[in-house]
Order: sequence, then structure tokens, then C-alpha cells
Amino acid sequence: MANSKIIGVGSYLPEKVYDNAYMESIVDTNDEWITRRTGIKERRVSEADEYTTDIAAKAAEAAIKDAGLTAEDIDLILLATVTPDYFTPSCACVVQDKIGAVNAMAMDYNAACSGFVVGVIMADQFIKTGAYKNVLVIAADVLTKATDYKDRATCVLFGDAAGAAVMSATDEPGVMSFDMGADGSGHAMITSLAFKDDSEELEKRISGRKETILMSGQAVMKFAVKAMADSSQRALDKAGLTYDDIALVIPHQANYRIVESAVKRMGITDDKVILTIEKYGNTSASCIPVALDEAVKTGRIKKGDKIILVGFGGGLTYAACAIQL
Ligand code: UT7
Repeated sequence: MANSKIIGVGSYLPEKVYDNAYMESIVDTNDEWITRRTGIKERRVSEADEYTTDIAAKAAEAAIKDAGLTAEDIDLILLATVTPDYFTPSCACVVQDKIGAVNAMAMDYNAACSGFVVGVIMADQFIKTGAYKNVLVIAADVLTKATDYKDRATCVLFGDAAGAAVMSATDEPGVMSFDMGADGSGHAMITSLAFKDDSEELEKRISGRKETILMSGQAVMKFAVKAMADSSQRALDKAGLTYDDIALVIPHQANYRIVESAVKRMGITDDKVILTIEKYGNTSASCIPVALDEAVKTGRIKKGDKIILVGFGGGLTYAACAIQL
């Protein structure tokens, strides 16, 4: 059976920035509160006419180029998003058309902020069974379009970004293990409404816009710390590794306090963890591939290094995997 390996990574961040001074100008908040409670200083914001498929295609093209492949080499596109352009068609099909990946099956899936790690795990399965050779995993969201800018508890958190990875069949070590799971009893903790007529949930939205994201912040934080630390440990155990073998942990970037507490629980030092939250805020599932791309491009990690990707998100969901680059 073949292994699967990440052979290319790419990301895209819109140019427009909302800094904390801007957030102060639109809601009752301040730089000190945002910095102390979240670690965020700035977030990137898509243009009014720039959607998930636009930023996803840019990240995808960068990842394919980095892999040394062409779009026609891609057999399957898996795209994680909670802010699709349409309910149908899938964003993945629109991206397939935009980038010319004419030989690829394409589909979206939703595991919220755990989406990229779940996509890597799914791609690994398709590759290990021999079904596909080159799988493009994309995570893209324009969360600022689903943000209630009248709700100070959420609007300071979110930004827009896309990240992608090309995974290919190989005889070398690659994806070594994974762990993932869901706790649907927490489904009401992070919501964005669609067809269901849920007047109670709608009333909680200050702006009255049903698609905006609402969160029980404290409860999610509690879930996140334990879920990330435990899932990461299970992935390590399955691979027969310890944190001493790991060059870098790339966690979902929802709040630096969540990462800090998870790191403490993992018993590792800060230099083994990457943080991008200060610059980009929480960009949903793309946080992890954006950080992965940065870590690769800046030389923080290199071929042969073993890393952990670990995320959590709405659903509630969590996922981790151990990978040799
Ligand atoms: O991607 C996955 C999903 N997202 C997350 O994982 C987010 C997880 N949760 C969090 O990151 C944190 O819960 C938040 C950053 C959202 C909030 O931090 P917190 O420490 O849990 O604060 P809190 O909600 O308990 O609020 C503390 C106080 C409240 O005031 P009172 O009641 O103590 O007077 C809030 O009204 O802070 C107030 N507050 C703010 N003050 C200034 C809430 N938002 C703001 C704000 N600026 N933006």
C-alpha cells in the first residue's frame, strides 16, 4: 500500500486589514482587551466581491506550483468551508473550473475549523487505497462575510484566508497516524443559520442576519483545550512517537489562550508551536494550512521533519494527525 505525503503547500491572504484600532471605531472594545483575551492584533478582510472560491483558487494554484505539478495532475479536490459561495454547486467544483483541474473529482465538506486536518485524513485514505494519486486539500473561508459587526464578542475574532496542500502517493513516510472525532451534543455552541426556522437562535443575533456566527465562547474554549491536547496525544501514540520526535505542532488558531493552555497540557515548550493569530485572527479551517505554509516557506520546518496538525471547531469536531514532511 502506498503512503501519502504533503508535496506542496500554498496560501492566500487578502490585502485589506482591520486592525484593533478599526475594531475600536465600530464596537465598544479596545486594543488592550482584544490583545489580552485573544492575542489578535489584525485580521485580513476579503473585498466585497471576493468570495471563498476566489481565495481558494489562489491558494490551490500556489500549492500545485509548489508541488511541481500542473492542475491537470490533480485527481481529487476536497474543499473545507463554512462560507460557501453557493449551497450548490460546491466551491470545489467552481475552483476546479477556475484552476483547470479538468481531471479531478471535486467536492466540499464541513467539519468547521477542523476541516483542513479532516481533509488531509480523507486524502490519506483515498491515496492509501490506491484510488487517487494526487489530492488537493483546500480550506477557505470568508468569515468576515458571516460576521456580525455589531457583536463585539465575535467580530474581533474573525478574518479571511485560504490554505491548500497537494498530497501524493509515495513510498516515503508521510501521514503517519490520525485521530478525529465529534461531539454533536455541543452543536449549539457555534452556529450559523441556514434553512431551519429557528427564531430563538435568530433573536440572539444583534444584526438580525441569520448567517452570522454566534458562539458560546467560554464553553468552546474549555472543549478546545482538552480536545486538542488529547487528540494530538492519541495521534502521537498511534504513530509510536513522543513530542521529543516532533519539530512543530501546528494548532488551530482561535485564541492564543487556548493554544497556551493546550501547550501546557501537552507538556511542550512554546518553541515547538507556531502562532499566527496575532496577524490573521481566526480564519476557520485555513488557520492550519496558512501556518503550515508559513513554517515551510520561512524554513522553520523542512523535509524529513515530523509535525502535528491539530484542530477543533464547530460541530463540535476535532482532528489531529502526525506527518513526516
Ligand atoms: O474557531 C473555533 C471557534 N472559536 C473559538 O474557539 C473561540 C473560543 N472562545 C474564545 O476565544 C473566548 O471565549 C472569547 C475571546 C470569545 C471571549 O473571551 P472570554 O475570556 O471567554 O470572555 P467572556 O466572553 O467571558 O467575556 C468577558 C467580558 C464580558 O464582560 P462582563 O460580563 O465581564 O462585564 C464581555 O461582555 O468581556 C466582555 N467582552 C468584551 N469587552 C471588550 C466581550 N467581548 C469584548 C470585546 N471587547 N470585544
